[in-house]
Amino acid sequence: MSGEGRALNVGVLGAGQISQAGHFEACRKAKNAELYAVCDVAEELLEKVAAIHAPKKVYGDYDAMISDPDVDAVIVAIADQFHVPVALRALEAGKHVLVEKPMGVSVEECEDLRDAARASGLVVQVGTEKRFDEGIAFARDFIREQMGEMIALKAWYCDSTHRYTMTDALQPVIESSERARRPEGNPKADLRRYYVLGHASHLLDTARFLGGEIETIRTRLIEKFGAYCWFSEVEFADGSAGHLDLTIKVRMDWHEGFQVYGEHGSVIGKTYNPWYFKPSDVECFSEKDGQYHRPLGADGHFFRRQVEGFADTILDGAPMRGAGAEDGIAAMRGMVAMVRSAETGEAVRLAEAGGGV
Ligand SMILES: NC(=O)c1ccc[n+]([C@@H]2O[C@H](COP(=O)([O-])OP(=O)(O)OC[C@H]3O[C@@H](n4cnc5c(N)ncnc54)[C@H](O)[C@@H]3O)[C@@H](O)[C@H]2O)c1
Repeated sequence: MSGEGRALNVGVLGAGQISQAGHFEACRKAKNAELYAVCDVAEELLEKVAAIHAPKKVYGDYDAMISDPDVDAVIVAIADQFHVPVALRALEAGKHVLVEKPMGVSVEECEDLRDAARASGLVVQVGTEKRFDEGIAFARDFIREQMGEMIALKAWYCDSTHRYTMTDALQPVIESSERARRPEGNPKADLRRYYVLGHASHLLDTARFLGGEIETIRTRLIEKFGAYCWFSEVEFADGSAGHLDLTIKVRMDWHEGFQVYGEHGSVIGKTYNPWYFKPSDVECFSEKDGQYHRPLGADGHFFRRQVEGFADTILDGAPMRGAGAEDGIAAMRGMVAMVRSAETGEAVRLAEAGGGV
């Protein structure tokens, strides 16, 4: 597919929270993509979002959407358990896929999706919008190009007790429907699993994006007063030490960030609740000039930047800036390793982590 002046026709599967807060607008604002179609089984929800976002087509049936020859790619924005089966169907229909994080709910099904992507030659990208945060991207470039060898990385991702009050003031009114399709049972019945899939997926991806491959994880889980704290000691493939902190919910503001120490410099980052659409505050100190370097990060639309990156890869063959299938699998292995290690007290090698959380 050649990119010459052409926009990627995106079909979004799922008209729920993340599509309304992120993907619909991202596709509409993207310089090289269009919100071509939206699909949801909940008819009245579909009508409401179509009235706002005006896609060219609406579908109640997913197979009908992926049979549409004008759909180039699908964004999978439905519950985690459904990701891999529908992504596989999209590939079979010849469509590229941007699948929300987590890529799936077990290592094996994520590997199946990777294998199918390889066989098809189509693009599979995993939704990790933080990679498109200009601050985090700046940190990554500094680490790769100027920092020299890494010795240690710390990263933390702590959801806040005030999260819903904060997001209420930041997001549009989110439409919902009684008829929305969700997996059986209450996903919040097992909060540990819910938090790991929802949040550790981001923490692990950011740690890998900045620090490279993770080899082993040893995790302690402490539960008190309804809060959960996963402290993980991490070994990176380059021998660096790591510490990952997933604490939910902290009794204060959203608390997310990282510190990276290297041979010729160090990096400190503070990341905001994503719905502020404000890139991370990042300072990279370089021994070369004895100065801190700090990007402005004027463009805070991570979701728009993500879909633009996805379209660049498909239309122009640009290197993928987002997470590929291997990154999605590595995050899944990391989540499994955290959970197994917290159960047994032993360090878990990611290469040996299998199953689900
Ligand atoms: N990247 C992020 O920061 C971020 C943030 C929030 C959620 N997410 C991810 O986004 C995904 C979706 O979350 P959500 O909260 O928007 O879900 P949701 O349950 O609010 O919405 C999903 C919608 O998809 C529809 N749907 C499900 N299966 C369908 C099918 N086969 N055909 C047609 N319609 C179908 C449902 O009817 C529902 O309206 C999850 O995987 C979640 O982890 C990512």
